[in-house]
Amino acid sequence: MKLKTKISLLTITIAISVSFFIILSIRGVFVGAFRGELEKRGISIAGNLSDRIANYILLKDYFQTSRAFSEVLSKERDVEYIFVTDQEGKIVAHTFENGTPHDILSWNPLDMMDLHVQLLDTEKGYIRDVGITLFKDTKSQLHLGIREDSLIQTLTRARYITYPVILLVILMGIVASFIFSRLLTEPLNRIIEFTKVLGRGEYGRKLELRSGDEIGYLARNINTLSMQLKSAMKKMEEAYAYTHLLQADKISSIGQISAGLAHELKNPMTTLKMMFQAFREQPDMTKEDAVIISDEIEKIDDILANFLKFVKQKGFHFSEVDLNELIARVLSLATFEIENSGIVVHEDFIDPLPAVNADRSLLEQVFLNLLLNAVQAMPEGGEIRITGKSDDRFVEVMISDQGEGIPEEIRPKIFDPFFTTKDGGTGLGLSIAYNIIKSHRGNLFFNSSNTRGTVFTVRLPKEGEHG
Ligand SMILES: Nc1ncnc2c1ncn2[C@@H]1O[C@H](COP(=O)(O)OP(=O)(O)OP(=O)(O)O)[C@@H](O)[C@H]1O
Ligand SMILES: [Mg+2]
Repeated sequence: MKLKTKISLLTITIAISVSFFIILSIRGVFVGAFRGELEKRGISIAGNLSDRIANYILLKDYFQTSRAFSEVLSKERDVEYIFVTDQEGKIVAHTFENGTPHDILSWNPLDMMDLHVQLLDTEKGYIRDVGITLFKDTKSQLHLGIREDSLIQTLTRARYITYPVILLVILMGIVASFIFSRLLTEPLNRIIEFTKVLGRGEYGRKLELRSGDEIGYLARNINTLSMQLKSAMKKMEEAYAYTHLLQADKISSIGQISAGLAHELKNPMTTLKMMFQAFREQPDMTKEDAVIISDEIEKIDDILANFLKFVKQKGFHFSEVDLNELIARVLSLATFEIENSGIVVHEDFIDPLPAVNADRSLLEQVFLNLLLNAVQAMPEGGEIRITGKSDDRFVEVMISDQGEGIPEEIRPKIFDPFFTTKDGGTGLGLSIAYNIIKSHRGNLFFNSSNTRGTVFTVRLPKEGEHG
């Protein structure tokens, strides 16, 4: 059952019971008072009448007695009957129309009392029988029966008033219950709706509900909770990004790289070892020998420098990065290589690219590597096209060249550490770039044909999506 229905039922029940209780107790007091008054009147009428007829009874003048009775009956409309008994207890005068009813006579003996009032339940309703002894220590008594006519009439009249009052109270109860339930359930419903919003993960939103009562207190607590959830969520995302970067991607790549590193260093080291052995036996080093040694050392240096650059990377320094500016900087860094190879770079941005939340120097490393790969793919010169696009969630930068393309058989390997087809290459460029982009929760992929051109795409989450 809904809260609203419960409140309505409760209020209506309370309204009905209260009105019944009030009406019943008022009726009780009223009836009690009325009966008291009726009794007093009966006693006073009977007392006056007994004074008046005492002499008639003594003189056995029953004619005068009956006249006195008739006078009382005509004046007092609710007197049902009057009768007198003589000293032997025989009825000598009465107002009964059809003989003397036995039930009344057997119910109201006076015994030895001077005055006695009895309540008789008769066919005509309740009758108060007031009995008075006319002469002490004799059976001569006067009895007067008085009906509750006017009480019944008053009660019937009162009913015409009480029914509409009860109806009015019930109606007021219904109206009040609606108002109450609205006051209470409306803010509660808003709180329930708001918890659904939180359930959808929309943390940090606020419920506008100003109220000084318990519901207002609840709303304020839920708002605080919403803010706490937001900040906890943000920290969690940061931690996730960080561990994702450091543990998952980087460490696994370090393992991968270390294995490759040992393997890669073995070749130039063997060459050097052989050269030095030969040098010990025959200490005259030719110019060619010196070039070989210097090349091998340079290679080792290159491999180690690139490796350390990656391994030493302590944490990531995220900030808002303007990709347009970053690409312009990378282009200026590579000006020499570009111009030397007779390459023209076209930047093709329809709109400026939106900012991303990223580590600036790492992204620079990625774009520089992709640009240099494109340059190195076109030794005879050509065109490099840099284009960009963005949607609600991602920004994409495409670097296309007109080089020889990537042969199908090496496509699965180009992101492997130390995989290279170039004489002077370390083969770490794409592997590092891939890890950096993955660490930014983005993606790095390419499209290439066997003969003409390659497009590398960097996809990054837009700022705010990253958390
Ligand atoms: N734009 C491209 N066109 C053709 N082949 C490419 C292109 N980019 C990368 N490759 C291939 O992928 C290989 C791996 O590239 P990666 O950048 O990892 O190493 P590298 O360029 O060989 O060496 P380094 O970047 O360390 O100087 C390259 O040797 C090349 O064969
Ligand atoms: Mg490279």
